[in-house]
Amino acid sequence: MRKIAIVGFKGGIGKTTTCVNLGAALALRGHRTLLIDTDTQANVTMALGLKKYEKTLTHVLSHKATAQDCVVKARKNLEVIPSDIGLFKAQQRMVLEMAREEIFEDLFAELTDYEYQILDCAPSVSLLTVNTLAYVEEVFIPVSMEMLAVSSVEQFINYLKDINRVMGRQTAIRLIIPTLYDPRRKISQQVVHTLKKMGPLVADPIWIDTRLSEAPGKGKTIFEYAPRSRGAIDYARLTEFVVEMPPIGTNHKGT
Ligand SMILES: Nc1ncnc2c1ncn2[C@@H]1O[C@H](COP(=O)(O)OP(=O)(O)OP(=O)(O)O)[C@@H](O)[C@H]1O
Ligand SMILES: [Mg+2]
Repeated sequence: MRKIAIVGFKGGIGKTTTCVNLGAALALRGHRTLLIDTDTQANVTMALGLKKYEKTLTHVLSHKATAQDCVVKARKNLEVIPSDIGLFKAQQRMVLEMAREEIFEDLFAELTDYEYQILDCAPSVSLLTVNTLAYVEEVFIPVSMEMLAVSSVEQFINYLKDINRVMGRQTAIRLIIPTLYDPRRKISQQVVHTLKKMGPLVADPIWIDTRLSEAPGKGKTIFEYAPRSRGAIDYARLTEFVVEMPPIGTNHKGT
């Protein structure tokens, strides 16, 4: 099983869009995939149009439910552990327990029936993010086409080094994903050029496509909402790239 966190300290850079559409594309290719929403904004469930669920990650953290109890079927091969606004308070109440880096490993121990687990993160440093980074083996960082987004990647690379050192982990930045790429704007090419010099592997960009911003409002993935759109083509290509990445440890470009 591959455990991947979609992380970035900047807001609105396409983390949730990538989580949902990468997950959807993996599921369409027949891979059993679980999305875990660790962001109190609960955007993953909204984007997938899920309304009927009672238990969320908040209940798991508060030991009121098991992770398995919270799994919601979203599509064929695609399941979700939802989040809710209560997650923020649950995290505060659990400060001491969450200071243990293996807490997610314990809580998610029974979730073995998947080929991919993808965790969507909030755009901030929190105990939830730290625990997510200690749980996964791979990190994907979406980056929008602004120089400020590039500097937040630099900050994140250093932050992950600290986390790995303190926690004795080797979580790797496996992929940087340029998002909201606009070929008409020179800054897009400049940002991609800069990203390619940073070390981690850089995927082909996800172009800006209004269909990608419309789909979540309809509770649909891009493959359901606009299967022939640029966004659908880009996320299908990204997914193929992700599936074909060499196993961890053999990619010398990981940080
Ligand atoms: N390639 C794209 N083209 C057009 N719109 C996009 C694209 N990617 C994301 N968006 C839109 O940009 C907004 C931010 O995207 P998204 O919610 O995925 O970012 P995020 O990093 O998860 O944000 P947050 O930090 O708030 O969780 C959303 O309205 C989304 O629909
Ligand atoms: Mg998000």
